[in-house]
Amino acid sequence: MAVQRTLVLLKPDAVQRGLVGTILARFEHKGLKLVAMKLRSFPASTFERHYEPHKAKPFYPGLVKYMSSSPVVALALEGVDAIEVVRGMMGATNSRKAAPGTIRGDLGMSFSNNLVHGSDGPESAASELANFFGDCAEVCNWTPISTPWIYNVAEELA
Ligand code: RTP
Ligand code: MG
Repeated sequence: MAVQRTLVLLKPDAVQRGLVGTILARFEHKGLKLVAMKLRSFPASTFERHYEPHKAKPFYPGLVKYMSSSPVVALALEGVDAIEVVRGMMGATNSRKAAPGTIRGDLGMSFSNNLVHGSDGPESAASELANFFGDCAEVCNWTPISTPWIYNVAEELA
């Protein structure tokens, strides 16, 4: 168990479909702590860096174009095992195959337009957070008053 930070993107389809509040509420209701958030029309270069591990894949150019075609919301979320928790909440990449109860499974029908991104490991989380929130001043260190009700502090946050 470790407190982690992860980068979440609400992709162009989530913003265009008016699902920002719905998806953000899921993360808030789960108990994940919001530590940074911004809506931007990010340049293609931001997504070229973000999807660098997929650079050799045939879908890379289309993916970068899609992500930079419309505003995106970037979130930094914090919590115990936050990376795995967020990935579970997102569901499978193909929204048509994502389990009911997940964000993609409940809200989407597309493989490519799949609403949400979440970092897939501690190393990618660190580099992705730096890409979108390079300045540490953009990330808030704070303690929600709900923390001792979300966690057993002695067992899970010691
Ligand atoms: P993400 O990185 O966006 O959180 O999604 P993921 O881990 O579930 O999926 P990943 O394999 O990392 O792929 C990144 C994004 O690229 C698009 N994609 N298109 N046409 C294709 O074959 C294909 N494969 C992937 C999806 O938008 C996917 O989320
Ligand atoms: Mg991925």
